[in-house]
Order: sequence, then C-alpha cells, then structure tokens
Amino acid sequence: MHLQPAAPIFARLVVIGLGLIGGSFAKGMREKGLFGEVVGVDLDAESRRLAVELGVVDRCETDLAAACRGADVIQLAVPILAMEKLLVALAQLDLGKAVLTDVGSAKGNVVRAAQAAFAGLPARFVPGHPIAGSEQSGVEAAQSGLFRRHKVILTPLQGTDPDALALIDRLWRELGADVEHMQVEHHDQVLAATSHLPHLLAFTLVDSLAKRGENLEIFRYAAGGFRDFTRIAGSDPVMWHDIFLANREAVLHTLDTFRDDLDALRQAVDAGDGHQLLGVFTRARVAREHFSKILARRAYVDAMHSNDLIYLANPGGSLSGRIRVPGDKSISHRSIMLGSLADGITEVEGFLEGEDALATLQAFRDMGVVIEGPHHGRVTIHGVGLHGLQPPPGPLYLGNSGTSMRLLSGLLVAQSFDTTLTGDASLSKRPMNRVAKPLREMGAVIDTGPEGRPPLQIKGGQQLTGMRYDMPMASAQVKSCLLLAGLYAAGETAVTEPAPTRDHTERMLRGFGYPVAVDGNTATVESGHKLAASHIEVPADISSAAFFLVAASIAEGSELLLEHVGINPTRTGVIDILKLMGADIGLENQREVGGEPVADLRVRAAKLKGIDIPEELVPLAIDEFPVLFVAAACAEGRTVLRGAEELRVKESDRIQVMADGLQALGVKAEPTPDGIIIDGGAIGGGEVWSHGDHRIAMSFSVASLRATAPIRIHDCANVATSFPNFLGLASNVGIRVAEEGK
Ligand code: S3P
Repeated sequence: MHLQPAAPIFARLVVIGLGLIGGSFAKGMREKGLFGEVVGVDLDAESRRLAVELGVVDRCETDLAAACRGADVIQLAVPILAMEKLLVALAQLDLGKAVLTDVGSAKGNVVRAAQAAFAGLPARFVPGHPIAGSEQSGVEAAQSGLFRRHKVILTPLQGTDPDALALIDRLWRELGADVEHMQVEHHDQVLAATSHLPHLLAFTLVDSLAKRGENLEIFRYAAGGFRDFTRIAGSDPVMWHDIFLANREAVLHTLDTFRDDLDALRQAVDAGDGHQLLGVFTRARVAREHFSKILARRAYVDAMHSNDLIYLANPGGSLSGRIRVPGDKSISHRSIMLGSLADGITEVEGFLEGEDALATLQAFRDMGVVIEGPHHGRVTIHGVGLHGLQPPPGPLYLGNSGTSMRLLSGLLVAQSFDTTLTGDASLSKRPMNRVAKPLREMGAVIDTGPEGRPPLQIKGGQQLTGMRYDMPMASAQVKSCLLLAGLYAAGETAVTEPAPTRDHTERMLRGFGYPVAVDGNTATVESGHKLAASHIEVPADISSAAFFLVAASIAEGSELLLEHVGINPTRTGVIDILKLMGADIGLENQREVGGEPVADLRVRAAKLKGIDIPEELVPLAIDEFPVLFVAAACAEGRTVLRGAEELRVKESDRIQVMADGLQALGVKAEPTPDGIIIDGGAIGGGEVWSHGDHRIAMSFSVASLRATAPIRIHDCANVATSFPNFLGLASNVGIRVAEEGK
C-alpha cells in the first residue's frame, strides 16, 4: 500500500544498511511522509531489490556519494563493526548540512570511530540506539511499527548541535518511540547488563548443553524453562559477535560481577545453604514482577492513573452479608519489622497485602532479610537478629507509608550503615521532625529535607543513649519509633504519651519475648535483650471495618457481620463514637489471638444523632474520622469535633479535604483549626477529590448510600495502600461503587 502522506518537510532521508532496524526506520519514515524521498543504500543487491519491492524505501543507490549529496538526514544502520569503515567513507564526502545518526547497540566504539574518521566529532552527529531488536533479521522483516512503545536512547556529546539532536529526537518520536538521552558510557554499561549479558548466557547455555554426549536427551526433554531462557540464542550470531567486540569493556565488567554471583550460588548449593538460595530467589522473583510491570507499561499506566483513577458511586442501597476485611495495617508493618529482627523464623498469617505494608516488607528484603510470600496473607520471615541487617543497595522507597518511614527511622539510626528513606508525593510532604528531633537527642545523626520533610538521610554507626521523652502529640508512630531505637540505646528509653495511642508495638515486642514495662502513659524498654521468633495472626483491620460500620449504620435496612476484627482498646474509638451517636453495633465471639483481642462485629442500620465527640476518644479513632464525618452528615443535628489537629498532617489534610468534599455534596461542614462542625442533612451527588488519600476515597464511597445522585470520586488509586479489594467487598455487600467505566 502506498500511503499519500502530508507534505514533506525535508527533502531526503538516506538509510545505509537495510536490515531489520534500518529497514523498519526507513519504512516508518516513508509512511510518515516527513521526507520527500527515502533512499536506501546496501551492499547486498537482493536487499536493495526487496527494499523497493516491499515499499521500505522509494529507491536505492549503489553509490554512497550520490545517495548522500544534499541529504537532510543520514541514518547509519550497518552492523556495528562495519561502522568504522562506513564513517571513514562518509568523512571523504561533502555532507553539507546533513545530520548523521546511527543505531549501533554499543555507543562508545561508534563515537570513537567517528572521532577518528572526522578528526574530531562532527557537531551534526547524533549517536542513537533503538532497543527493538528481535530474533528476526533482514529487510523482509522490516515493520514501520517496530519502534512503537520501544525505547530509543540517544547519547549526545558536549559538542552535539542541539538542533540536530532535536531533529533526531523528533523522528524517533514520530515512529512512536520513547526517546531518552543518556551519556555514552552509561548507555554501554546499562546495555551490557540488560541485553548483552543475557545474550551471552543464552548462547553459552545452549552451546554447553549441545556439546554434551547426552545432548539429544537434554533437548528432547527440555521443557518450557530451557526454551524460554534460550529464546534469544536464536539471534543473529554475526551481529552479536560484533556487539561483544564493540562493547568489550562494559561486557567484561558486568560478566565479572555476574561470575561472582554465580560462584556464590554454586557455593550455596555445595554447602547445602538453602537460606542463601531462598534469599536470591525471593528477591529475584519480586524484582522480576516489578520490571515485568514496567515492561508491560503497567507501572507507567499506574503512575498516569494514580492521579485520575475515578470511583463512581451510585446512590442508594443497603448492606447485608458477612465479610472479613483485610489484615490490620499497623500490625502487619510491625510483624515484618520484629520478625526480621528476631532470631529464628516467624510465620505471619492474615498479613495485609496492601502497598504500605508491602513497602515495609520490601525495605527489609533490601536489607538482606529473606522473606517468603506474601501468599494469601501468609508470610515467612527468616529473622536475622537485632544486629543482622545489611546495608540496602540504594535508598529505601516507602511509597505512601508514614508508618514505614517513622518506625523504620527509629531502627535505622541504630544500624552500622547509612540509609536514605524516600516516599511518594504525599509522604514527601509529611512532618518528620517529630521523630528526627527526639532521635537526635538519643545521639542519632539524621537529616531531613526542608522543613523537616522527607527524604531522611540517616548516618549509621552511632552509639545511642536511652532517654525519657514526653511526646508533645499523641502519636503511636513516634512512640514506636523511639521504643525501637530504645532496643539499641544504652540504658532505658521511656516514652510518655499525652493520651493513650495504639499499643501494638508494646504488645508485639512482648509476644517476641522482649520485656516492655508499661506504667500509666509511659512505656519503657532497655537494650540488651533479644527477640525470639513468633507466630503472628493478624486480625482484620478495624480501620478498614470502620467503612462498613458506618455504611451499614446509615443505609436503611442493613445488617452486616464483620468477622475477626481487631478490637484492641486503643483502636475502638470508632465503635464508641458511633454508639454515642446511636449506632447498633454488637461484639460477638470475643477472643484473644496472639496477644490481640478480636471479635465479630454485628452492625444494623440505626437512626444516628449528632454529638460532641469526647476529646479523649480522638487518638483512639484517629484514622476513622473521614468516615465518621460521613456518619455525622447522615445524623440528625450537629456533630462537633475538637482536639484533632493531627488530622491535618495525615495522608492528606483530612479536615480540609473532607470539608471540601462534603460541601461539594451540599452538606454543611465547617472546618476549624483542630476539628470540624457538621450539620446532618441531605447528601447530594457531585464531584469530590480524595487528594490521593485512601480513606477519603473510601469514605465518599460510603456516603453514596445516602446520596440523592451519583458521586464521582477522583484520585482513588491509593485505596490499594490499605484496602486492596475494597471495591470487590463493597459491591459484594451492597455499596454501588466501581471504577468509572468498568
Ligand atoms: C499508626 C499510627 C497513627 C495512624 C497510622 C498508623 C501506627 O499515626 O494514623 O495510620 O501504625 O502506628 P500517628 O502516630 O501519626 O497518629
């Protein structure tokens, strides 16, 4: 098919070397119609003939000088070892204003060859490398769409003409490629590791097995693993021979590192060291999942969506059934931390597979802890002891999770190595001085970003000293951070809180056999003890159950059973507040599991009334206020909250964001510096923004039960941080919420 493209902008593109890459570039450009003509050059007559016949080029030239005279762009797509000769030939010609570029898989050697041929690098030479090879080769395999959604790396040098660079950048983008710019050396190292080494391994594995006497047997029984692993051994041998010779230094470097790792693995097999093997395999598996996501572009898509994943909640409905919401987030975090620092193997059940707890899990993997799972909530942690953590390979990225960052900082200031803690946009705005300041008083060296925000830079190798600390705010994260630092600090560390906050750290430390003294509002630990591995059953998270407690309370005719919910008295403020408002919530089957009280909660619809929320309940319901505000909007009369300024520094400013959303739905909600005043009444439909805050998104989903029209909730991707299957469970029990368009 001959496309009749838009009017050309340039006169001529010359592509030298009509293989898969050169041919695909020529064909793509020809279809785009940016050039008056696309001219091919190739030593092989058959390739030239095919190129014209297949519509890859307009015509071919056998004479290089004739092809290049007056050209706008010259693309060098010959095998990499032929590049040197070609550059020498081009240097003899008058290339006028032509921009030169290439597609070589290694860049250092091409740049050196160009420098030698032209006696200095021409300003209009833009070295490039499209990462789009395949086992196919030749002009007959050329496709105009080959580069779509593939990376093209350009490696401009200091003297490269910016206009020439912009032009080549544009041409690749026209073909749908993602263009990136990189330094030459960096390119060569990255490609040696990600492309050249795997090809080398595939070629050697096949060759090594083929040489053996029993090769027929081996190949006959070779199953998927062998086939998958060696697919790339079908690539063009000459091209790869060229690449290894061209990128010699970088390949040797990456091969040596790999050989060390292989030796370590051999040793582990020899010594029967299953722990070492499991460590490598579990880390590799997670890493593989991560980059598969990137390769499938899900990571990009997620990132793009994270701003506009919209929930559409349709009005009305009532709830019925029995459900178990996911595991407690606070307890899940702590199970990984203490399990990692214990001696022996800790089994966890009911672990929350949400992004926040997974961020903690990954951080400990990065510090050398072998962790199996999670698989259906089961995690097996091979503890390394209080002094067994290893330096992570880079900064620890903690996503949206404030709990990870604050608790980890207490542990990490006491390690022998340095660490950097980073997070997403929301976490990067949250106050960290509340932990950094007291930790410094204990002797820690810790730097924050401006105004006490992340990232945190922690200098290891410090000797900490215990202290008595009166917390200025009621924060379980600060308390836990200091108690964890106290495990390593000389003498005693005592933390006093102004009001009771969740005590999971204290309980779990005891569960691991570590003594903690609690006297009134003060918890004390001393260093010098050990953690012994334990078995942990994580109860369902009352903070996640809270959405359903409110939902079933406000939706007429509802009755719902929430199974196995943690009812630690430092967490049950939401039940107390709802009961004060007139909710009908019963606790059944109360029991204790692994040091934490649990119960099944039965909730029936009830007429709610507005109340003045007792201030002492605020820390005990700190995460449940967004949904409690929805309850207040559905209650008769006025609800007043005071003493809750902490809500302003959660994943979002929960006072302002909820007030804005409620007002958008026609509810009278007036924010105050430390709380809110809400007058119950009708809830309309409309658009609300969760500002990336999981609990806001879920709260407005619940509000739809009493709304008169649909509610569109923006920015809901972070629901996955604490409640991965929220939409599924919500719609199972009768809330009419789903991802918009699904
Ligand atoms: C948490 C403590 C609370 C809570 C957070 C989890 C914890 O934070 O909001 O979701 O696991 O210790 P503060 O300590 O900042 O109140």
